[in-house]
Amino acid sequence: MALRTIRKKGDDILYKKSKEVKIFDEKLAQLLDDMYDTMKNADGVGLAAVQVGVLKRCLVIDIGEGRIELVNPVITEREGEQTGQEGCLSVPDVWGDVKRPKKVKVSAFDRKGKSIIQEGEDLLAVALCHEIDHLNGELFDDKIIEKQ
Ligand code: NI
Repeated sequence: MALRTIRKKGDDILYKKSKEVKIFDEKLAQLLDDMYDTMKNADGVGLAAVQVGVLKRCLVIDIGEGRIELVNPVITEREGEQTGQEGCLSVPDVWGDVKRPKKVKVSAFDRKGKSIIQEGEDLLAVALCHEIDHLNGELFDDKIIEKQ
């Protein structure tokens, strides 16, 4: 297990757009493993690679229903709407309501480069949107409609 340092708001890298992963190698697998350990260690439910300082389009999520890892994720369908409180390991001590789709469908790749579809509803939809935003250099606190 290798923990990486979580980048915090104020670090410019968080506003950069991550690059598509083209090589599915051991280094990518190690990154995903480290990201998962780092997220769990910080009691988070999602983490994007940029949050550990790596500008690659990949993320890990675990909302208590098992580990999800997505490489080059793209939201292909959005349905409905929900507003719920969010927080972020890179934005400590800030929570606020953000409007998100109720349901999303995401097309992505697994760590070996196999094409996969991930669907998410409710909290999982929120986590998917929040983490994919990170890959585009967007932080949730700019989307807060009501501060807590
Ligand atoms: Ni976040």
